[in-house]
Amino acid sequence: MSNSTIAQVGVIGGGQMGSGIAEVCARAGLEVVVVEVDATAAESAEGRVRSSLERAASRGKISAGEVTEILARVAFTSDFDALADRDLVVEAASEDEQIKLELFRRVGALLKKDDAVLASNTSSIPIVKLGAVSGRAEKVMGVHFFNPAPVMQLVELIPSLTTAPETLDRMRGFVGEALGKEPIEATDRAGFVVNSLLVPYLLSAIRMYEAGYASAADIDKGMVLGCGHPMGPLALADLIGLDTIRAIGVSMYEEFKEPLYSPPPLLDRMVDAGLLGKKAGHGFYAY
Ligand code: 3HC
Repeated sequence: MSNSTIAQVGVIGGGQMGSGIAEVCARAGLEVVVVEVDATAAESAEGRVRSSLERAASRGKISAGEVTEILARVAFTSDFDALADRDLVVEAASEDEQIKLELFRRVGALLKKDDAVLASNTSSIPIVKLGAVSGRAEKVMGVHFFNPAPVMQLVELIPSLTTAPETLDRMRGFVGEALGKEPIEATDRAGFVVNSLLVPYLLSAIRMYEAGYASAADIDKGMVLGCGHPMGPLALADLIGLDTIRAIGVSMYEEFKEPLYSPPPLLDRMVDAGLLGKKAGHGFYAY
């Protein structure tokens, strides 16, 4: 099925991922509404999209006029009902199963178009459960972006046992043609492809640091200079957000009972202390 049927996109949550997804969609010419919990959060989401676009303009990737045009395509609101007329809603709320279930219940009942797709940017929460509570399981699937969304080319597509093949086809077209990103497909198992490999690696680096093997800077330098990674695991953990990594690790551990997925005590303590990484100004590094 053609992706041209998706013109109006809703994004639930305007944090790092939600604002990045909204920016990607608006830059692709789509009309976007970002729904946040309150007016202050909606304003912060707008600030994130604006500063990312201004950064792109300062690097000559887009013009100042394009910044204005792209921003004009995105509305930021705390009015959940603004999602009702969307062709596609991408949920990018916190990685918390109860929050996501409640959102899928609400938005599933709200969508007016029969063929509207309801996607989650979750990394690890079962898509099948989100589909079940939405009342429209055949139109629900995982569409998982990577941070920073405007830069990373990959999007994972995750149909569940109850997703209709047409929904997957539609999202394949949307991601590949409308957004110009590269889709890969994965089964509805916590972690999908990328986090199943990445999260144990990040948690191992945190364990290594916790055990005093090496400094944070040297662990990171090891992987950047020794393996050619764009950033080391502790800097990447700070970029993703330590609360997010912890939540993904917990979901993956619950699913597979694999000790490598279990968050180490230092990660728990850092999250409890509010040392959440770059977004909080402090994690393994100070920002
Ligand atoms: N928003 C928009 N653009 C950004 C950006 C952001 N937050 N951060 C960087 N960019 C752009 C820059 O504008 C620049 O563009 P240009 O080269 O075309 O001018 C380009 O990205 C490179 O940026 P910088 O020169 O400032 O910095 P680096 O070269 O160090 O690159 C990086 C930064 C792109 C973040 C790079 O270090 C990288 O790729 N890191 C790995 C990121 C990664 O692994 N992400 C996946 C995380 S896992 C995930 O998200 C899944 C989840 O479920 C946990």
